[in-house]
Amino acid sequence: MFVIISLTIFVVLLLQYVRRRYSYWQRLGVACEPAAIPFGILDAVVKRKQSFGVALRQVYEKHSAKVVGIYMVGTPTLLVRDAELAQQLMTKDFASFHDRGVYVDEQHDPLSSNLFNLQGAAWRNLRNKLTPSFSSGKIKGMFGTIDDVGDKLVQHLLQQLELAPQAEIDIKEKLTTYAVDIIGSVIFGLEVDSFSQPHNEFRAISEQLLNEPGWLLKLHNISTFICPALAKLLNRLGYKNPVLTQLQDMMQRTIDFRERHNVVRKDLLQLLIRLRQTGKIGEEDDEMWDIETAQESLKEMSIEKITAQAFLFYIAGSETTASAAAFTLYELAMYPELLQEAQAEVDAMLKRHQLHPQDKLNYEAVQELKFLDQCIMETIRKYPGLPFLNRECTADFELPDGSLTIKQGTPILISLFGIQRDESYFPNAEGYDPHRFDADKQNYNQTAYMPFGEGPRHCIALRMGKVSTKAVLAKVLANFDLLQLPHKELTFGFDPAPVLIPVGGLKLRLKKR
Ligand code: HEM
Ligand SMILES: *[C@@H]1O[C@H](CO)[C@@H](O)[C@H](O)[C@H]1NC(C)=O
Repeated sequence: MFVIISLTIFVVLLLQYVRRRYSYWQRLGVACEPAAIPFGILDAVVKRKQSFGVALRQVYEKHSAKVVGIYMVGTPTLLVRDAELAQQLMTKDFASFHDRGVYVDEQHDPLSSNLFNLQGAAWRNLRNKLTPSFSSGKIKGMFGTIDDVGDKLVQHLLQQLELAPQAEIDIKEKLTTYAVDIIGSVIFGLEVDSFSQPHNEFRAISEQLLNEPGWLLKLHNISTFICPALAKLLNRLGYKNPVLTQLQDMMQRTIDFRERHNVVRKDLLQLLIRLRQTGKIGEEDDEMWDIETAQESLKEMSIEKITAQAFLFYIAGSETTASAAAFTLYELAMYPELLQEAQAEVDAMLKRHQLHPQDKLNYEAVQELKFLDQCIMETIRKYPGLPFLNRECTADFELPDGSLTIKQGTPILISLFGIQRDESYFPNAEGYDPHRFDADKQNYNQTAYMPFGEGPRHCIALRMGKVSTKAVLAKVLANFDLLQLPHKELTFGFDPAPVLIPVGGLKLRLKKR
């Protein structure tokens, strides 16, 4: 009898708790998306029907209020729909929204303490230290490597065309190889050439991430975002991300080698080694490549922490760069007049610099490609590399109109995919119009354009992302024609990663010019 009564009481209390939990926004009188218990907005994601970015855009489109309450599993989360308010939270009111609220455990799990995850002062400190690594001077110094990888892609495509002139090429896959090789070489300091050696060690490790990782890795990855406490628990119980452990091992070997033999290369790893030795990276572009060594005990950064940053750069930099380039080529293949304009600009640039299509490019020459730049801007508007931004409310915050006080700890989401496809900000939002960015036109609402995020936590490497994208596009356009594709809007399928993966890939037919 006692057992039955206690059980009943328990169930009643539990139901009440769940009901209260999933009516949080309703009780506050905030416009909200009815809660699908238990997963909330993640329902379609858990069922592998949609990727998170697409699910969030649907909620964005369904509502019209400036903010919409949603539930991430049981966590009340605020979707900020209004572009101006979103900007404001990330810039002017940064003090109340400076973290991302994802799993990080600097003390016990240094491999988790990357720039994306870190919070508060620890984030600020590391951000200041890393920022000089991505200055235009530094990117210029790395351009030769980026250029080399681009040349390998062109050679590879030429070979493919010789073997099968009519065949469709999965351009997304090729550009992913390009972007991953840039990271492998510039950031991990490796001699990688995945076009001729598709099974090298770096690729083998990184591919584990894509090819169905184990369920524990998946669980850990997911909880990092939606349940940091669970991720922390898993780590305390001894869970280690196998990919990170292997990368750390590889980093250790490379760093040892460089430190022992005084090898200096103009790459990001060199800057990280310098940061490790001296605690800072100089603002000056010339002296900073010098090597200075410190004893192990005096080193400012552990191998784990270096690996954590390198791994983040890999995650944040490869898919975004590959998709910016691939979606641009895909759109240009649908708009012959834009393709012609882009090719004419590249041809004129080559001519000015007396270069042949297969010659080495240089940083300055690539900077001159203004129209190509606008194409990339339009691509990452329409297909944001990261379809949403996230923040955590770090101090209670009253909305400017007084309608709501956001409680500390509330996760904030901003749907870039929703905002940047919103007709009220971008006329002809579903179209592809690089000319909307013409200086004398500016046919869009600038507040709503934030493909690299906003405020102090915006993309630290946007310059590098743009240069890598532009360089490879210039090379492809100089060497190939794209066979015209019929107009078709892409649809996006399920992917556990928060990115836009087009159903059926991005296939093009190329012809040597
Ligand atoms: C076209 C290419 C790229 C796009 C569209 C892109 C986009 C973004 C976006 C939207 C964010 C979030 C910003 C925010 O929350 O306000 C971000 C953050 C970040 N990105 Fe990029 N990114 C690109 C390339 C890269 C590359 C090449 C790297 C590194 C090599 C990189 C490293 C990072 C890092 C470290 C952060 C976190 C910054 C912080 O929290 O302080 N990104 N990126
Ligand atoms: C841009 O959008 C914001 C809403 O977020 C609005 O307040 C602002 O007036 C718009 N600007 C222009 C120039 O239309």
